Amino acid sequence: MKISMLAKRPVDLAGYRYSRQHYLQTRCRINYLVERYLSIDILSARLADLPTQFENPHQRPWEPIDWQAITPEQIIGVDPALFISVIAGAAEIETPIRAYARESWGYLQSAHPPMARFMGGIFTTDGSPLEVGLWEKEERQHGPAFRKIYQQLTGEKLQPKPNSVEGYQASENLREDVYKHAISRMTTEWGATSVYLWLMAHSTGALQQAIAQPMQDEVNHLAKMWGISYWAFGDSYITRLRGTSKNLISLFKHHQGERTHSNDMLQLTYALHAVELTFTFVRVMVQLHRWNQTLLPGDLEQLFGQPQRDIRD
Ligand SMILES: [Fe+2]
Ligand SMILES: [Fe+2]
Repeated sequence: MKISMLAKRPVDLAGYRYSRQHYLQTRCRINYLVERYLSIDILSARLADLPTQFENPHQRPWEPIDWQAITPEQIIGVDPALFISVIAGAAEIETPIRAYARESWGYLQSAHPPMARFMGGIFTTDGSPLEVGLWEKEERQHGPAFRKIYQQLTGEKLQPKPNSVEGYQASENLREDVYKHAISRMTTEWGATSVYLWLMAHSTGALQQAIAQPMQDEVNHLAKMWGISYWAFGDSYITRLRGTSKNLISLFKHHQGERTHSNDMLQLTYALHAVELTFTFVRVMVQLHRWNQTLLPGDLEQLFGQPQRDIRD
């Protein structure tokens, strides 16, 4: 009797869909998403795929998205205005990808040419692009996807203002430059993964399926960048990342505060959901640390060879 009742419970990509979703139910859904999309096996497989991508770059295929089927009713357990403001924020953070890719290429080209090609492609000596990097190819789909989602939800076109990109700035110390750059890229991938997971915990149907595509790209990049950075820099890298987590969360809060300052009600709901977002950031980081414990130096060297002396301590 009980079993047949359970079988009828509505489920989606984040597990059980609660009829009333509050903080604890959202946490359950976030945990479910982490176990499903950031399992140790998935993270290891995404990392092990990196040397293959150096040899033969191949875009991660997206599952088809039914854009027309996306409706505001698929937003659950959160004020739709807040959800939509996070979608708008995502579209904004995702641009301008070309400048981000070029910046990564600048930092990586002498330290690790295959990774530079993976991120930023290949350029001629006069700086014109010969090949688009795989990371850029995957990332450049995200901004348009979030703009489409925004349009479906609001009926309005979003005009995002792109972030400014500092660009490649070399110092005397190549190791430190690459190190800082790796930390900043990792932080972005981790932030994007966490925010998109939170959006998936608060959505269902076609809307949730659409967000699942960029989210899985972010997990893919996160695993690859984490793994190769751990290979290059070892434990100090992990310690330093920990310090950036607080900054990221406060930056995100600040950003959202600016966007919604004219609407007190929205700010209040945002404050309530900041606890959930913080939970998601921490939950993802805990999972990455769990995974990191399974990464053995011997396995990493088998994937990437011996780390270069000028990059490692
Ligand atoms: Fe992205
Ligand atoms: Fe990303």
